[in-house]
Amino acid sequence: MTRSARQFLGAATLSGLTGRPVYDDMFEVPGELHVTLAGDSDLIVVAPATADLLARAAAGRADDLVTATLLCARCPVLMAPAMHPRMWQHPATRRNVRWLREVPGWQVLEPAFGEVASGERGVGRLPEPEDLLAAIEATLANASGEREAPPEASLEGRHVVVTAGPTEEDIDPVRLLTNRSSGKMGYAIARSAARARARVTLISGPVALETPPGVTRIDVRSALDMQAALQRSLGEGQRDADALIMCAAVSDYRPAAVANTKLKRTPGERSLTLVPNPDLLADVGRARGERRHPFLLGFAVETEQGERLEQAARSKLSAKRVDAVVANSAADALGTDATVAMIVTADGRVPLAGSKSSVAEAIVRFVAEQLA
Ligand code: CTP
Repeated sequence: MTRSARQFLGAATLSGLTGRPVYDDMFEVPGELHVTLAGDSDLIVVAPATADLLARAAAGRADDLVTATLLCARCPVLMAPAMHPRMWQHPATRRNVRWLREVPGWQVLEPAFGEVASGERGVGRLPEPEDLLAAIEATLANASGEREAPPEASLEGRHVVVTAGPTEEDIDPVRLLTNRSSGKMGYAIARSAARARARVTLISGPVALETPPGVTRIDVRSALDMQAALQRSLGEGQRDADALIMCAAVSDYRPAAVANTKLKRTPGERSLTLVPNPDLLADVGRARGERRHPFLLGFAVETEQGERLEQAARSKLSAKRVDAVVANSAADALGTDATVAMIVTADGRVPLAGSKSSVAEAIVRFVAEQLA
């Protein structure tokens, strides 16, 4: 417990509920308590992680038992933030979160949307207990997977092409059309597929993510660039790939003309003529015809939820002639670290929830089963 935690509940309550001692003071037992706690742990969960805790952790402070233990940790660390939405949005908190997410093995979950202590609504609530539990399970499973056996699903000898991130369509030399895709889901899928021993080609729009180990990455900007990279990776007659996982948020339109010089402001309204981009996934689906090679998996990010979301995914399944569509609602998908989704196929659906890495693993397992 931090000093602030004690304002909300007593140590006796926590030790009564858990049957374990509660520590809040670096010096209450002889020896170096932070070193022992950090060394003995398989996972450290900070819940709730306040703005102050995130700031102190990002600064590398060790001014209480929690931060000292974090600084000494060698196991995965999971932070579940909770604070007022304006505190979560503040550039200082954004910077701290960005920084902490770069520490290898550290995750900062997205807080949930809803009512916060002040009665206002926004993004800042502690993630729901079941989401937190799913993230804990996924992190422990990943950590033990990395230490021990390779994942069950094997893609040995398979070539998997994954697309990820947004596309950028130029308007003029300084302006462009793009979207909020972070690329996290596609990168997590590429990582899982490589861990399942596939040869992985990752065709990526502009994102700020590191290439997962063992993955060949091709960087592209526009939908047309992505189309060219895709054709090269799938090869003649689309025979060079066993599966295509189309996770990129491809722009459906691009400006009809790209201005060579910066467009100047003019009085009154202005319109921009857009022309359709090819639907990359549907084109591969069409070219594939009746063969089921390569296996095709698309994504549908929709603003609908529940039944309507599944319906939207199902119509994409037939319109794009693909084998499976992963459907998630925009609120759960864009830029977050955890997601709720479902895999929709012609004859069923598989629900998915958890961190993007555990959902990615489930998707890769599903693709491996289909290929087998
Ligand atoms: N996709 C694609 N090429 C495009 C647009 C989308 O290959 N020009 C792929 C995406 O990678 C994703 C799937 O198609 O796997 C669904 O994309 P989405 O944008 O949700 O669907 P749209 O076809 O654009 O349909 P709508 O805009 O009506 O939702």
